[in-house]
Amino acid sequence: MQGLDLLGKVLLDEGGLIAGQLPTYLGALDAWRPRRPTYRDLVLDAPGFDPIAALAGAQFAYTVPNFSNPTGKLVGLAMRDRLVEAAHATGTWLVEDDPYGTLHYDGAPLPRMIALSGRQGAGKAYDGPVIYMGTVSKEIAPGLRVGWMVAAPAMIAALTTAKQGSDMCTSGVTQRIALAALESGLIERNQPAVVKLYRERRDALCAALAAHLGAWFTWEVPVGGMFVWALARDAALDTDRLWAAALEAGVCVAPSSVFDAAGRNRRALRINFTLNPPDRLAEGVRRLATAVRAMA
Ligand SMILES: Cc1ncc(COP(=O)(O)O)c(C=O)c1O
Repeated sequence: MQGLDLLGKVLLDEGGLIAGQLPTYLGALDAWRPRRPTYRDLVLDAPGFDPIAALAGAQFAYTVPNFSNPTGKLVGLAMRDRLVEAAHATGTWLVEDDPYGTLHYDGAPLPRMIALSGRQGAGKAYDGPVIYMGTVSKEIAPGLRVGWMVAAPAMIAALTTAKQGSDMCTSGVTQRIALAALESGLIERNQPAVVKLYRERRDALCAALAAHLGAWFTWEVPVGGMFVWALARDAALDTDRLWAAALEAGVCVAPSSVFDAAGRNRRALRINFTLNPPDRLAEGVRRLATAVRAMA
C-alpha cells in the first residue's frame, strides 16, 4: 500500500493522468486521490483495446494482472506482452501490482510483465518501464506491513527518497520477521494447503451463488485470488442500495461503485471467498439473496 502512495508522490502531478485498469483497486484510488488525478480507463478486454493509445501521455499505467482486486480476472499472456510493448513504445511507466500472484488455483502461472519487459537485458540490472510491486500480506500476514518494489535503478532511487520522507524506513523488526519466514521456507510449505483451502472456499461460494443468486447475477469462476465479481443481470439493480440492504441482513460485500474513481458502475459486487469457511459463505449468500429479493 505504501508503494502505491510513493508512486503518487514520485510520478503524479496535481490533476495528472493515470491510465488505470478498470475497475481499480480502491486502495490505489485512495492513495492517489489527494492529487486529484484524472483517469483514462484501461478496459483490457474491451473489443479493439489499443494499449499504445491507452498508455500514451499518461503519467503511469496501473494494472493488477493476477486476479485483480476487485474482479479476480487474470490478464492473459498476449495482453501482458502488448502492455509491455506499449510501455516501451510510449515511455509510460507500467505499474504491475501483484499481491495475488501465488494464489493460483487452476492452470499454470503466467510470466510477470517485468520479466517479459526484461527479456533483452538478461544479466544486467533491469532498466525498463515496468514497476513491479509485491507484498507478504497475502501469504504471511498483512499485519507485518512489508512489501517491495522492483524497477529501474533511477526509479528505485526516487522512490527511496520519497519513502524516507514518509517513514525513513520500514520497521527493521517486521522486515526481519518477514525475511526469517521467507528464508525458512514457510511460504513454500504452507502454499499447497493455502491454495487447497482457498480453492474449496471459491468453489463453495460459486456453488452457493449458483443455488441462490443465478437468477439475478452472472459471474466468472476466478482461477485465483480472493474475489468473485458478480454482475447484475438487470442493469437497473443498484448495488449501492444492495450493499446497504445486505449489511442490514448481516452480510458484507463491496459495491462496484467504489472501484471507479468516478463512482459510475453501480451494477456489480465484489464478494470475498477467502476469509470464511464454506458454511458461512453459504449463509452469507443466502442473506444476500434475501436482501436482493427484498429490493426487487
Ligand atoms: C491490488 C492490491 N494492491 C495492494 C494491496 C495492499 O497490500 P498490502 O497489504 O501489501 O499493503 C492490496 C490489498 O488488498 C490489493 O488488493
